[in-house]
Amino acid sequence: MTGPLILAIESSCDETGIAVVEGGRRIVANVVASQVALHAPTGGIVPEVAARAHLRWILPVLDEALADAGLAVTAVDAVAVTYGPGLAGSLLVGINTAKTLAWVHGLPLIGVNHLEGHVYAAWLVDPGDDPPAEPLFPLVALVVSGGHTILVEMRDHLMYRFLGQTVDDAAGEAFDKVGRLLGLGYPGGPAIQRAADGAIRHDAAFPRAWLGESYDFSFSGLKTAARRVVDAERRAAGIADDAEAGLADDRVAELAWGFQDSVTDVLVAKTIRAARASGARSIVLGGGVAANSALRARLVGEAADLGIPVIIPRPGLCTDNGAMIGAAAAWRFAAGERAGLDLDARPSLPLASR
Ligand code: KG4
Ligand code: ZN
Repeated sequence: MTGPLILAIESSCDETGIAVVEGGRRIVANVVASQVALHAPTGGIVPEVAARAHLRWILPVLDEALADAGLAVTAVDAVAVTYGPGLAGSLLVGINTAKTLAWVHGLPLIGVNHLEGHVYAAWLVDPGDDPPAEPLFPLVALVVSGGHTILVEMRDHLMYRFLGQTVDDAAGEAFDKVGRLLGLGYPGGPAIQRAADGAIRHDAAFPRAWLGESYDFSFSGLKTAARRVVDAERRAAGIADDAEAGLADDRVAELAWGFQDSVTDVLVAKTIRAARASGARSIVLGGGVAANSALRARLVGEAADLGIPVIIPRPGLCTDNGAMIGAAAAWRFAAGERAGLDLDARPSLPLASR
């Protein structure tokens, strides 16, 4: 697909992202203002704080994205925006900015599902890079983020067959909770990965929730298991319940490795089984947890044994950004889809085929 130049806005959670994407693939500009530092002291996202930060940063981010692209808003073919799932207050900021731009400049408006954006990050190409091969259909896509864990099959663009999802915590949520438990701070995902990389022993065993033959996932038991181990070992070491001090660094590293290994094991096994059952010609991995190097390496290795290519965006395109919304929007734009100026936030928007 050559073609439309799309200005895309993402504000569903805690990153304010605005990008210009050409033809659903080529990143022209991609600016992300992260709220990670803002939410670190509370160890998680406070929705109103997130919404206000979007409001503070969205116009500077827009300004920078257009300056990077060397374009005026009038040069684009459409404005796209995430309208769900996500935090209502956060979504509203992006939606209202997108609606205003579309109205003032008479541009088409495209509503995009955030999860669809994570899948379409697999098509993105950075400025100056040669486009790699596109993901081939049918494909199986695993989206693992702070709020979601879903496994879907796609036989064509915008066609989703739901295979499974988490029945409790999202994978990223489990990383964040266990990270906090281990005293690693927020967000837990990157911190657990760093700690796990330093583990000397690789024998900490955590449970695996296979849930029979289903493609669903469960991670809440892991958090309970981690809490039990940490509490028992703190008690054995004579650390008071309310003490700040935690376990020794090398033990934290071993437990981080054990937790990461358990999550990775289940995610990879179910994705590979789904890919075989679907006769998939490619596997796509997306969402913030897809930035995890152990998960990436394991999935690529096991898929290679089956001869199936795996497409995983670089880490900065796995976490929330506007470019992924621009990639998905191009296909909805090409299909003639247009949102009205009454577009509203849908915090629980399900992933739906066209
Ligand atoms: O997709 P994302 O940026 O936001 C949501 O849509 O939720 O994902 C954020 C999640 C957080 O839970 C964070 O801990 C996790 O992605 N994450 C990671 C890594 N980097 C970010 N999890 C594991 N390993 C990482 N390297
Ligand atoms: Zn996300």
